[in-house]
Amino acid sequence: MALVVIHGDLPGEAEARLRQKHEVVVTKTEQELHGLAKLAQAEGLLCLLTLRVNQQLLARMPSLKVVANFGVGFDNIDVPACTSRKIAVANTPDVLTEGTADLAWALLAATARRIPEGDRYVRSGQWKGYASDLLLGVDMFGKTLGIVGLGRIGRAMARRAEGFSMRIIYSHPRPVVGVPYTHVAFDTLLTESDFVSLHCPLRPETHHLLDAKALAKLRPNAIVVNTARGAVIDEKALIEWVRRGGIAGLDVFEGEPNVPAELVAEGRIVLLPHIGSATAETRRAMAILASQNLLDALSGRRPAALLNPDVWPAFVGPT
Ligand code: DGY
Repeated sequence: MALVVIHGDLPGEAEARLRQKHEVVVTKTEQELHGLAKLAQAEGLLCLLTLRVNQQLLARMPSLKVVANFGVGFDNIDVPACTSRKIAVANTPDVLTEGTADLAWALLAATARRIPEGDRYVRSGQWKGYASDLLLGVDMFGKTLGIVGLGRIGRAMARRAEGFSMRIIYSHPRPVVGVPYTHVAFDTLLTESDFVSLHCPLRPETHHLLDAKALAKLRPNAIVVNTARGAVIDEKALIEWVRRGGIAGLDVFEGEPNVPAELVAEGRIVLLPHIGSATAETRRAMAILASQNLLDALSGRRPAALLNPDVWPAFVGPT
């Protein structure tokens, strides 16, 4: 039996499954986590993507064998630092692919067809009757969708776009084999897309990928959808672009949960509180996968969603 720390609330029975095999402590805030008397003895950590698993935390957890992230993006974890300490790191791919693509698609529809604005208009009693020029949006059918990052979620987004007869172009470090979409340079994607949807991981090379220069290359009525990570867009540049009439649907922000007041002030922008994978089914599946990753590593089995396979031959395993 090992000591496992769960940082954050987990949906469903995942916590109970962990308790069958291990001693489990749940912390809700970083203060609580750092103040844990037994932190140094913890062998497993299951955390939400809001926790920064950095050198500082790792130094306080010398017994740690596995970090199981509740989320597919893992920019919150210093993976090289974990690898050098022989700590396995795992995430939750696949189970959230369709749910997150649904949300990206919903954000695109919401911005293109001004759905939240229409809802606010009706609720506030402003609607006085049918009008031929009321809340005009843009057609989605037949347009060009530019997908930045054709991984699992990017491909799921592309499949949705196929149903709308869109021309689908994508930028990716290399052409993806076996897909019927067109690989283009990032600059071409910017100039040719009616809609740009971000699906790349946050890495040093994608940090502020959509900066002022890139935003300036977009078509005048282009819509940007971001369900990836806030820092893929330079938020300051985004604010300027939006002020000039740019339209965006955003589920993620640079300094979550803080959303710049300038974005809140723009009624055509759709803002969501990082709910890409937030369906009951998906969140439950993520919790099961994250807990299974942790259980596997602590019982010496290679986790299905291991991110740092280099660590495995050297894995110390349970004590
Ligand atoms: C993740 O899991 O990385 C996504 O942000 C889901 O919303």
